[in-house]
Amino acid sequence: MSEQEKMDPTRRNLLIATSVAGGAAGLGAAVPFVASMIPSQRARAAGAPVEVDISRIAPGELAVIEWRGKPVWVIRRTQEMLDSLKGADARLTDPASKSSEQPRYAQNEYRSEKPELMVMEGVCTHLGCSPQLKSSDAKAEMGADWSGGFYCPCHGSKFDYAGRVFRGAPAPTNLIVPPYTIVSESTLVIGEDKETKGA
Ligand code: FES
Repeated sequence: MSEQEKMDPTRRNLLIATSVAGGAAGLGAAVPFVASMIPSQRARAAGAPVEVDISRIAPGELAVIEWRGKPVWVIRRTQEMLDSLKGADARLTDPASKSSEQPRYAQNEYRSEKPELMVMEGVCTHLGCSPQLKSSDAKAEMGADWSGGFYCPCHGSKFDYAGRVFRGAPAPTNLIVPPYTIVSESTLVIGEDKETKGA
């Protein structure tokens, strides 16, 4: 029996889609690649934590997982993506995420527990649209100083690869980071961490 098959069925994962940050495929062109473990309707309605197999998310890829009816992004950031987060503070509304929502372990320059693994809600903090992934190749569309991140087409908010919103955007705060636990190299649980368990 595989590790996944041994899991509590109420916490099984729904890994919906993936897209490649550096390639032509954007979120709109996301291709489903696995939908193997679907939590029961009852568990999903109750907002149960979702267990995700992250072993198949390659560097530069973004997977979309449904949790509490919202899309949660899991991105395996490349070194180039991490480097793009440096030196941008003056252009950001809340560079240190002091006014934004994230667990304590994600209030750092990467907004994540492990720099390479970014977990955040794919929901714009302005009016709730879903931003689109725009790689650093999108300079013609996004501007010469664009080094990659996310763009919300509804009213033009821009975010970096840590979900930090750029100044002048209508979105007031950075994208929300939900509670999560990195169980192993291959397993992530969204919706639960030590703090929520102890609550
Ligand atoms: S909903 Fe994203 S900018 Fe308005």
